[in-house]
Amino acid sequence: MQLIDGKSIAEQIKKEIAEQVEQMLAQGLKRPHLAAILVGHDGGSESYMTNKVRACEQCGFKSTLQRYDEDITEEELLRAIDGLNNDPDVDGFIVQLPLPKHIDEQRVIEAIDYRKDVDGFHPVNVGRLSIGLPCFRSATPQGIVNLLDRSGIDTRGKHCVVLGRSNIVGKPVAALMMAKSKPGNCTVTVCHSATPNIPEITRQADILIAALGSPAFVKADMVKPGAVVIDVGTTRVADATRKSGWRLCGDVDFDAVAPLCSHITPVPGGVGPMTIVSLMQNTLMAAKHTIYPA
Ligand code: GUN
Repeated sequence: MQLIDGKSIAEQIKKEIAEQVEQMLAQGLKRPHLAAILVGHDGGSESYMTNKVRACEQCGFKSTLQRYDEDITEEELLRAIDGLNNDPDVDGFIVQLPLPKHIDEQRVIEAIDYRKDVDGFHPVNVGRLSIGLPCFRSATPQGIVNLLDRSGIDTRGKHCVVLGRSNIVGKPVAALMMAKSKPGNCTVTVCHSATPNIPEITRQADILIAALGSPAFVKADMVKPGAVVIDVGTTRVADATRKSGWRLCGDVDFDAVAPLCSHITPVPGGVGPMTIVSLMQNTLMAAKHTIYPA
């Protein structure tokens, strides 16, 4: 069994990005700038944001954070988005999700200029991804594809089973794994909450991507020996032995499943660090106008 070390692959990619930023500055171009909007004080969102700001520093990006109270109105938030859409110094920006209940998340996503949508959540980017056109790809699916690529895993003609059909992971990762590309070119099956015979299907997977948000859902008897297992789960579970009182738990019962696999990602240190790196890659592409011309 080979552990896929997302943390060290992510560090390597950040170094490569920082080198490209140095080259841009040497050519007289401006420093890439990622902005973020954070509403309220959700614990998970705060720690995501801390990690994103740190990754920007490591890549040599400028980062700015706009914070708003939980009671911001939808109109005020839309005005803030419009400000970033029209700020020529901002190459890309994200609105951290989830948003408070009184705000229509989809309306907010659609207000973002798709050319600055480095989260890849805007319907233009989602649609382009689904038909194989260049676009900002949503960060976690892109991180998974990068992990497979950098680990030298051959995906062509393999059966990839995806657990979960969320808009930000399950659906786009299924599209990327199905695409006529490398990595990709898989036969893809997507399982979800209405799938009756999940273990029967997961046992057929050469590549199993677990993204359903259910701690330790994937057990040893659900995995074919020699499979590649990618664990996207990051649920906080109570752990009295930790100072924080919690630990991150993946969607895979790691200790039972790992000995069976050819490759597996740990939680933490697998997909998580790659997700943030994808955001950095998207920001670099936004700054260079690689996908959408200036
Ligand atoms: N909340 C959890 N993950 C993400 C993400 O990748 N982007 C945004 N905007 N919010 C999130």
